[in-house]
Amino acid sequence: MNRIYLDANATTPLLPGVFDAMRPFLLDQFGNASSIHQPGQHARAAVDQAREAVARLLHCRASEIVFTSGGTESDNLALFGVLKPGDHLITSRIEHHAVLHAAEALEQRGVDVTYLPCDGAGMVSPESLAQALRAHTRLVSLMLANNETGAIQPIAEMASIAKAHGALFHTDAVQAAGKLPIDLSTKGALAQVDLLSVSGHKMYAPQGTGVLFVRRNVRLAPLFHGGTHERQRRAGTENVAGIVALGKAAELAQAWLSDGSGAAELARLRDRLERTLLARIPESGVNGAGAERTPNTANLYFDHVEAEALVIALDLKGISVSGGSACQSGATEPSHVLTAMGLAPARARASVRFSLSRLNTAEEIERALTVVPEAVERLRSLSPAWKQAAALAAV
Ligand SMILES: Cc1ncc(COP(=O)(O)O)c(C=O)c1O
Repeated sequence: MNRIYLDANATTPLLPGVFDAMRPFLLDQFGNASSIHQPGQHARAAVDQAREAVARLLHCRASEIVFTSGGTESDNLALFGVLKPGDHLITSRIEHHAVLHAAEALEQRGVDVTYLPCDGAGMVSPESLAQALRAHTRLVSLMLANNETGAIQPIAEMASIAKAHGALFHTDAVQAAGKLPIDLSTKGALAQVDLLSVSGHKMYAPQGTGVLFVRRNVRLAPLFHGGTHERQRRAGTENVAGIVALGKAAELAQAWLSDGSGAAELARLRDRLERTLLARIPESGVNGAGAERTPNTANLYFDHVEAEALVIALDLKGISVSGGSACQSGATEPSHVLTAMGLAPARARASVRFSLSRLNTAEEIERALTVVPEAVERLRSLSPAWKQAAALAAV
């Protein structure tokens, strides 16, 4: 049985071209990029080349790229690097925990934090941002695309509002990079963004690699103290192989995004999956249907089904998807994103995320379209609430 992996928002597979690019740097080309001998200089050149490739993908300067260990570190570096006690931070209820928990830790250190709400489609409104700004607002951190629903936020507009007020703007673009065009150039849509986080393993590079874009002239205190790596913004010997992989993944992403046909095909597969599942499964729907979404993400609810049970049932049938809930100290908490969107806890617990990768095929989607409805039906047949509802409907 070939496994069908529909959990690309959790992590993407490594593309063969990416692995080929990084492999030599794990074997014979193992130099430290800070060494002045030839192996070191070779590693340095490879890091520089990767930096150029990432800068081309994001339409920024190579000197504005800081390599990190992933999205979590990039988010933490952006927030802790800018904020001091007494500052005000504006973020939202739908952020990833890499931002939310960093914000909570900053609150403990005397930073004032405002959490913007979202609407039923999972969108944060520019008006709510404008209203939340205060004289001491130092940073606004709002994500570009949500990891659970794929909802794409109006970041260009919100960054302009923050900048007009004199605040810095950070966006967590972990779920957008490689899926949507990102233009940080002075004439680009994201010209007002000061800081932007990327994670390698959401764009076909290895886990444990990432980038923080830091616009020229933005002063950032480092998280780590050590050497002068990454222009003193991130101390620590560079992960040369990982950085090379990220550079190659950026190059492949740029090619994939160039004419829009890759993203259109991915959206077509996602739409086929979503529409057909909704047609075949009663009492189902899309979470965040009203929002513009990343082309690969479908967050669906199947009422009277426990998402955890469905994830396990599908796993046994060779299909990998994700539930929208987090297991915290044994109790299954409904997702904070779906809850912020106003879903009742039962519906949030009945929600499953399907997130496609560039490698999924039409055949895989067809197989999922047979397996998922069968699994939902079987689980519902075991649910007393569903049996009761079916009996009432029959009367
Ligand atoms: C939106 C978002 N931000 C940040 C992260 C954290 O990235 P990483 O796993 O590279 O630390 C994730 C990972 O799921 C994410 O989806």
